[in-house]
Amino acid sequence: MDCRKPRKKSGLARPDSKATLPAMQTTAYLKQLFDLSGKTAVVIGGTGELCGTMAVGLARAGANVVLAGRIKEKADKRIEEIESHGGKAAFAPVDVTSRQSLQDLLKASLDTYGGVDILINGAGVNSPSPFFEVTEEEFQRILDTNLTAVFRACQVFGKYFIDETRPASIINLGSISGLNPLSRVFTYSASKAAVHNLSRNLAREWADSDIRVNTLVPGFFPAEQNRKVLDESRVLDILRQTPASRFGNADELIGATLLLASPKAGSFITGIEMIVDGGFHAMSI
Ligand SMILES: NC(=O)c1ccc[n+]([C@@H]2O[C@H](COP(=O)([O-])OP(=O)(O)OC[C@H]3O[C@@H](n4cnc5c(N)ncnc54)[C@H](OP(=O)(O)O)[C@@H]3O)[C@@H](O)[C@H]2O)c1
Repeated sequence: MDCRKPRKKSGLARPDSKATLPAMQTTAYLKQLFDLSGKTAVVIGGTGELCGTMAVGLARAGANVVLAGRIKEKADKRIEEIESHGGKAAFAPVDVTSRQSLQDLLKASLDTYGGVDILINGAGVNSPSPFFEVTEEEFQRILDTNLTAVFRACQVFGKYFIDETRPASIINLGSISGLNPLSRVFTYSASKAAVHNLSRNLAREWADSDIRVNTLVPGFFPAEQNRKVLDESRVLDILRQTPASRFGNADELIGATLLLASPKAGSFITGIEMIVDGGFHAMSI
């Protein structure tokens, strides 16, 4: 005997599963939400794994992209990839430990594209030193690249945005180790926690000027800076703790990047930590 209640017949007409919206209507709708045509994105760390991939996403959404880092050769392949999609990108050298170098990056970006609308702060270094072996030199070096550089770049580019009354989106790369400390990466965790805090503080400070500041928080994505930390037992620990049971692919950061970068889709989003981690932060038992 079937004890389920008989389902009421709805008065609504059933949608025709075969009927689809005209393709152009969907395309136009998505375009007005996420289109970055005419915008310029400066991607610091664009020579690296994650931010290089995010830069491709920004370029494919229409932005002119400046790939910034120390090693030009690492940018060349990305530029080729972006150009193969019909996008525009250029390399600009930067050493984020130098304020002058960041000033030069701003100038080079303005000379090339005439303005800047999106800044990504993604330069990062890491080290697996056990706590008692972390030297003051190493501690300062990691803080300088991961945290002080974000402070410097936000001063340099933030001043430009404010002086020019230019609406902007700043995306700082945080980390799940900035939410909860992660074993073996003491200095890295401390630096990222401070980036999260600084980002929220700047979001508060600059919301009136239409400058949005958010933290993009990747979970575990294999890349150059964390290769030394990812030995076999750690990989197993991570996978056990990740509900999705896998590492992320860099292109899985593109959707979040476009949402935070877009002045339309992301217009009311500021001061958040956008976590992209396959559920790592939500895992208990
Ligand atoms: N991979 C992950 O699982 C993960 C997770 C959470 C957060 N993150 C963060 O995501 C960001 C990107 O990291 P990634 O994983 O893609 O690592 P990556 O491939 O090693 O990239 C690191 C980037 O930092 C740049 N960099 C380092 N020191 C610099 C300096 N002094 N001046 C200018 N650029 C400098 C490197 O550029 P050059 O080599 O050209 O100098 C490179 O572009 C970092 O902030 C990282 O902490 C990564």
